[in-house]
Amino acid sequence: MKNFKPLVGMVKGKIPFDAAVVQKNAATIAANLEKARKLFPEGSEKGEKESRAKPEIWLLEDEFQDIFKTAVQRARALSQVREAKDLAPAVMALGKDGCGACHKKFRLPKK
Ligand code: HEC
Repeated sequence: MKNFKPLVGMVKGKIPFDAAVVQKNAATIAANLEKARKLFPEGSEKGEKESRAKPEIWLLEDEFQDIFKTAVQRARALSQVREAKDLAPAVMALGKDGCGACHKKFRLPKK
């Protein structure tokens, strides 16, 4: 998640706002999410022992895909941010509706 962290850093004021970095990282996040979406084919819950993916992913496939779509949309919106004042709401929206929404529901707690 090296793409997401700097954006959080900018929101917190730890890193200076840089529209070029926002655009590049958010676009990478959107592309990675698109790729990740295809990494959860049905039946793969049996393959990987290390996985923290909940079996519900394959039972609630539509909902899972919906959250993915929302996450990609939020990441795309984030990549459009050109001004520092617009950054925090866009990062929050991605974190809450995208990453957070899906992890809460579909990711098992750390062992
Ligand atoms: C639609 C669902 C979904 C979305 C959206 C999503 N994730 Fe995840 N994420 C998962 C699942 C499921 C796992 C656990 C995968 C596994 O262990 O096999 C995971 C794992 C992770 C991990 C641990 C990776 C690892 O290698 O152990 C990180 C970090 C992470 N996600 C960050 C993010 C961030 C940041 C975003 C938003 C930009 C995001 N995720 C969006 C479902 C999602």
